[in-house]
Amino acid sequence: MVLSVTLNPSVDHALFVDELLVGDTNRVKRVETDAGGKGVNLSRVLCELGGTTVATGFLGGAPGAYVTSVLDGQGVAHAFVTVAGDTRTNFSVEDVAKNRPTTFNQSGPQISEENLNELLDRVRERLPQIRWLAMGGSLPPGVPKDIFKTLVLMAHEAGVKSLVDADGEPMRLAMEAKPDFIKPNDREATRLLSREVATRNDALKAATDLYRQLGGGDRIVVISRGAGGAVLACREGLYDGVSPSVEMRSTIGCGDSMLGGMLAAMYAEKDVVESFSWGLAAGAATAATDGTEIARRGMVDELLPKVKVERDFEGSLMEADLI
Ligand SMILES: Nc1ncnc2c1ncn2[C@@H]1O[C@H](COP(=O)(O)OP(=O)(O)OP(=O)(O)O)[C@@H](O)[C@H]1O
Ligand SMILES: [Mg+2]
Repeated sequence: MVLSVTLNPSVDHALFVDELLVGDTNRVKRVETDAGGKGVNLSRVLCELGGTTVATGFLGGAPGAYVTSVLDGQGVAHAFVTVAGDTRTNFSVEDVAKNRPTTFNQSGPQISEENLNELLDRVRERLPQIRWLAMGGSLPPGVPKDIFKTLVLMAHEAGVKSLVDADGEPMRLAMEAKPDFIKPNDREATRLLSREVATRNDALKAATDLYRQLGGGDRIVVISRGAGGAVLACREGLYDGVSPSVEMRSTIGCGDSMLGGMLAAMYAEKDVVESFSWGLAAGAATAATDGTEIARRGMVDELLPKVKVERDFEGSLMEADLI
């Protein structure tokens, strides 16, 4: 079982306009509303692809009830801590002409010390039943910046694997606890390493360095590069993956879907490299799906044979890393 932790879930509204006019009236052609947040997305894709998962974190108010209704509708088990404020509502404007979203993300409800302790208790009591603790996304006000580090250390102590998908200071602090699996995109990898990660070669080198930084061995580092695919550093070596080319409809949640796909494959006893293919297919499936919606099984199955993963023999993962 995978326990996902989303500290700042959201209700996402995608507004479709022909062309975004800043400082003017925009005619909205269509609105899509869905539940969002990294762990929420991950649990939904994982469940869709046959994995078992429980989603936890903080939810509050009517938007919080909306998130649980979406999870219930999809058969995703959940155990959120209820907070006094409202779960945030995020907007994205999908400019059909430019094919690029403009997003407006709120900061989220205030979290009290009591809420935080309740969440830590909830995670702690479930650790004996889970194999992976997956966490990520932004932090609502009141949550300490080292929360992911704390959760990774709790997981390590219980012999549970940890996955962190976050940015900035919370991610940097989480790295100190050496999580088992990370998936920065190229911009996040740039911030983690304080050097530019733009090309495929930059990404291969960055994945190698991050894998080493985590201590190598069974650690997994994926750096995702949007339509450019992703690279993987793991015990088996260094790999370059290309997603099938799809008609891009929205990029929201592609990274979370990739992780849901990878964990679902690992649950189906696939090795890390094959799981990477599932991740590439699930990411592409979400890219090809409208607005805030996530990958569906049929599309992932259809895209999987079109994924290409190649071992990078030039790569510089040394035997010493693969302890
Ligand atoms: N336009 C696209 N076409 C095909 N595959 C895509 C496209 N965009 C994303 N993907 C797939 O999804 C994976 C993850 O995407 P991306 O690198 O954009 O993640 P991300 O930036 O973490 O996204 P988010 O945090 O919004 O979920 C990519 O590595 C790729 O496999
Ligand atoms: Mg991401």
